[in-house]
Order: sequence, then C-alpha cells, then structure tokens
Amino acid sequence: MSAYFERMKKKTDALRGRDDLLILGIESSCDETACAVLRGRQILSNKIASQVEIHKRFGGVVPEIASRNHVLAIDNLVKGALEEAGVRQEKLDAVGVTYGAGLLGALLVGESYAKAFAYALDKPLFAVNHIRGHIAVNYVASPRLEPPFVCLIASGGHTAVAFAADYDEISVMGTTQDDACGEAFDKVARVLGLPYPGGPQIEKLAAAGKPDISLPRPFKGTDSFDFSFSGIKTAVINYANTLKMRGEELPRADLACSFQELVTDIMSDNLVRAAIARKCDKVVIAGGVGANKRLRAKVEEKAAAAGITAFYPPVGLCTDNGVMIAAQTACMIRAGRQCSDFDLDADADVRIE
Ligand SMILES: Nc1ncnc2c1ncn2[C@@H]1O[C@H](COP(=O)(O)OP(=O)(O)OP(=O)(O)O)[C@@H](O)[C@H]1O
Ligand SMILES: [Mg+2]
Repeated sequence: MSAYFERMKKKTDALRGRDDLLILGIESSCDETACAVLRGRQILSNKIASQVEIHKRFGGVVPEIASRNHVLAIDNLVKGALEEAGVRQEKLDAVGVTYGAGLLGALLVGESYAKAFAYALDKPLFAVNHIRGHIAVNYVASPRLEPPFVCLIASGGHTAVAFAADYDEISVMGTTQDDACGEAFDKVARVLGLPYPGGPQIEKLAAAGKPDISLPRPFKGTDSFDFSFSGIKTAVINYANTLKMRGEELPRADLACSFQELVTDIMSDNLVRAAIARKCDKVVIAGGVGANKRLRAKVEEKAAAAGITAFYPPVGLCTDNGVMIAAQTACMIRAGRQCSDFDLDADADVRIE
C-alpha cells in the first residue's frame, strides 16, 4: 500500500455524505475519449472526442487505432473540460476513470492518464465500472431519481435487466444469452448496407417502414427476464439472403422497422415485467440503445399502464460520455467504496454485478 493511498483513504472518508462533490470523470473504454466535470448532480462540462468517423471505414472499432487516438486526444480534452467548467484542477474532490469493461489498450490510456493526474494533484482516484456508469448518469439526468429502481442496460456490449437496491448495489435479474442488443442493431445494419454505428441508422430507416415481417421471438411464453438476439439477427440475414437468391429487392425499411419493433418490444417487456415482479415503482433505461425513441416510447407506455415512472437520459448521455463516469464516482463515494492505489489495472470483461 502506497503512502499516497493511505492519504487518499482519509481524504475519501472526509468526502462521504457531501452532495456537492466536484468530480472529474474520464472515459476511454471504446471509441470515444470523454471527460466531464460534475458538481453534485450538475454538469459543469462534458467533452467528447468521438472516433466514429475514423473507424467508420472499417465497419467497426479497430482497437489499436482507438488506443492511439485516445493518447492524442486525452490531455487536451481534460484541460478543455476543466476550462469549460471554470474549475481549477486543485479544487477537484476526486477523479473517476473507467477501468472496464472495454478494449484493454483503450482502457489503459485513460487509466494511466488518470493515475498520473490524480497522483500529481494528490486527489483520490476511483476505478469506475463503465456499465454502472451508464446507469448512474440517470441520477444527473433526473436529479429527483433515487434508488431503488429496476433498470434496463441496453448498450453495445451488454444487455440486462437489473435491480438497483441502492446507489452502488446492483443485482442482475436477466441477461443476454448471446449478443448484446447494440451489437444486434449494428450487425443487422450491416446486412441492410447501413454504416457503423448501426443503431441510429436503423432507427432512421425504420421510420419509413412497416413492422410486417415476421421474426422469431425468443423466450416466448416464459416468464424469464433473459434476452437472446442472435436468432433474430440470423432470421434477418436468412430473410435477406432468400430474397437475394430470388433476385427480389430487399424491403430495407420494413425489415429495419420489423427488427426494431421486435427488439424494443422484448426489452420494454422484460424491464416492466421485472419492475412489477420486484414491486418497484421506477424503471430506468441505461446505455447507447436507450437513445432509441421507439424503446423509450414503449417503456413509457408499458410503465405508465402499470403505475410505474420511467426515467431515461437525454440522447447525448445514452452513449459513452464522461458525465456517467463522474456520476458513478459520486455513487461509489456515497456508498462507502474505497479509492484505488497505483496497482489499479484495467479489466476488459468486468461484470455489471
Ligand atoms: N438510436 C439508437 N437506436 C438503437 N441503437 C442505438 C441508437 N443509438 C446508439 N445505438 C447503439 O448503441 C451502441 C453504443 O452504445 P454504448 O456506447 O453504450 O455501447 P458501448 O460503450 O460500445 O458498449 P458497453 O457500454 O456495453 O461497453 C451501438 O451498438 C449503437 O448502434
Ligand atoms: Mg458504453
């Protein structure tokens, strides 16, 4: 244990119970370098350097290229976020950084930067679970939100429904057995000839289509909260291939719409059923697919019918950002979690629980 860590443990204990903490959040788990400053639940700055244009031509994220671009972006981004927030770095109470899940090389860039930054300024450093960050951003987006609630985690790499008993106490009720929902959106988009990332493109195309193509619904007739998307994706691919073999034109908008309707139906169903099962009157949407308007509308509708209030972040806070990492740092401090020492490592496969 380093002398720095001993000092930081004491500093962290002094932060507990405060709701005006000034926190810097750093995110670099995939193709977005992001950084934000929060004061309590108020966003003072939110900077994102997206690499989408760089990776687009490869049809997905190339890990090594992502790491190199994080290195190029991170220092200016942190300085920019502090400047925009009007906060001197010495005034920060804590620094939070994503340690997983994500691409190992990309995670290490953010982590190495955050370690050096925190050590140089003698600030406590918190190792943030990216997925919990997606959930925690809701506390900033909806300042009156308090646990307990049931949440849907719908992102590029994860899909689950989970019970949030407290600020940093999450238990999974159901999870995907194969692909994540964002992954399914991206793969189906590819079949439809749409560029990466596919989710927003499918949503746009689906607006011009009808949901009249029949696709298989997994776990039909069961009360499971689990998900499965690979069968739906395969059905889309088979449908497209059959028409191609027959020389018929693919009804792209109808296929996008049918896929989106089914997937958003499954996710909204599982979320609201899970909340009813837990006798919980709040549901929360987390992760990039949460930007989908059909998903939001269906969750709102089904939740309202069951007397449940639905919460979700603005579209810009659904995909990866620094606010979510700062928000989860605040949750960790509030929940009595300890800060990290120098031996903090990255973990590509960190779990939600
Ligand atoms: N409007 C939308 N409709 C559907 N999917 C969307 C929409 N906007 C973004 N997505 C999807 O969200 C995913 C990105 O979300 P997010 O940034 O949370 O994932 P990630 O960080 O790559 O994965 P994880 O958070 O699981 O590690 C992509 O798969 C993208 O296609
Ligand atoms: Mg994410």
